[in-house]
Amino acid sequence: MNNFEFKNPTKIIFGKGSIEKLSNEIPKDAKVLMLYGGGSIKKNGIYDQVKSALVNMEIIEFGGIPANPEYAVLMQALEVIKEQNITYLLAVGGGSVIDGTKFLSAAALFEGDTPWDILAKNIKTEKGMPFGTVLTLPATGSEMNSGAVITRKETKEKLSMGGPGLFPVFSILDPQVITSIPERQLANGLTDAFTHVLEQYMTYPIDAKLQDRFAESILQTLIEVAPQVIKDPTDYKAASDFMWSCTMALNGLIQKGVPGDWAVHAIGHELTAMFDIDHARTLAVIAPSHYKFNFEAKKDKLAQYAERVWHITEGSTDDKARAAIDKTVAFFHDLGIDTKLSDYTKAYEGTAETISKRFTEREWLGLGEHKSLTPDMVEEVVKMAY
Ligand code: NZQ
Ligand code: ZN
Repeated sequence: MNNFEFKNPTKIIFGKGSIEKLSNEIPKDAKVLMLYGGGSIKKNGIYDQVKSALVNMEIIEFGGIPANPEYAVLMQALEVIKEQNITYLLAVGGGSVIDGTKFLSAAALFEGDTPWDILAKNIKTEKGMPFGTVLTLPATGSEMNSGAVITRKETKEKLSMGGPGLFPVFSILDPQVITSIPERQLANGLTDAFTHVLEQYMTYPIDAKLQDRFAESILQTLIEVAPQVIKDPTDYKAASDFMWSCTMALNGLIQKGVPGDWAVHAIGHELTAMFDIDHARTLAVIAPSHYKFNFEAKKDKLAQYAERVWHITEGSTDDKARAAIDKTVAFFHDLGIDTKLSDYTKAYEGTAETISKRFTEREWLGLGEHKSLTPDMVEEVVKMAY
């Protein structure tokens, strides 16, 4: 195992009825801005649960944060934070609302003139305004990590940010929230979490046994609960495993001491920025091509994944590795997720060249676990995904 340091300060409050416990977590003298998305929380009762838990607190609200949180909308929320002297943020939503809140946490204390610089200049946030979350959609792991991804429609950009100051102080995870999630978003959540594990696992073997088995157990759990969650989101046992798997997939633990890749996400974010394709679906488009293009470098780990996760025992390393890619594609298809760019847009010509050019301009010259995936190679991966 490689050397590592690990600190995750987020307090997790998990289980049925846990939204009630909100008032124990926010300081009594805080002036709170509650942030939410397009209004699903008003239909499914989560809004009412939050408001009644915080009935004795002074709360201002900001709704309307869209999926793929938009910079221009967040800048309006930043004005409210400044005008109202807000001291604490509360995100009630999925990855988009939580990420938007992380941006605001950073921007509220940012000393520069243009908060976009936090993203464009990749400025790490050492200290942000404190915030907690009530998770409504298991998927991203944002509820227990310090990263965020923000979109800017004006320039068709989608960029990442983060830093040790951006962990939520607490996150409330009540698996019952999934009962109102549409099937499309459940499938997205399963696919996103699954790919998070792959990004931290599908590299080369370093014989880090526990880390590998953590990763494999999350993949196996997601495969097992996926059909149950889709068929019946009121199945509390399945919902619990689904929610906790998504959190564990990206809270920092499984990436410690092992190489990581993240090229699938880097490329996928461009597809969302260019075509507005759901985040998870961009990953299902890119991952199979990425693994085929980098087959030689990744085949040992692909074969291990084939054996341990998909129980493929026949054939050579190459055979198993290929079968594992096919199994992964079939898993996405079973969830109703298409895996080719042309399934989502007919205007895909030129996409590979645009992404390659953007990566060159940003000096992202070597992605992947060996930092060897050049923009030219990225172009090939994207073409294979047409
Ligand atoms: O906006 P509302 O009305 O709340 O509706 C949302 C939205 O339309 C709806 N929804 C959420 N909870 C619901 C619900 N509908 C019914 N019942 C509920 N309980 O679902 C839709 C999608 O929500 P969104 O928050 O956009 O989904 P997700 O959690 O998948 O987040 C995606 C965003 O997270 C970023 C992605 O790039 C994307 O912008 N990511 C963040 C990461 C991180 N911070 O660590 C890592 C990921 O790789 C990812 O990049
Ligand atoms: Zn993701």
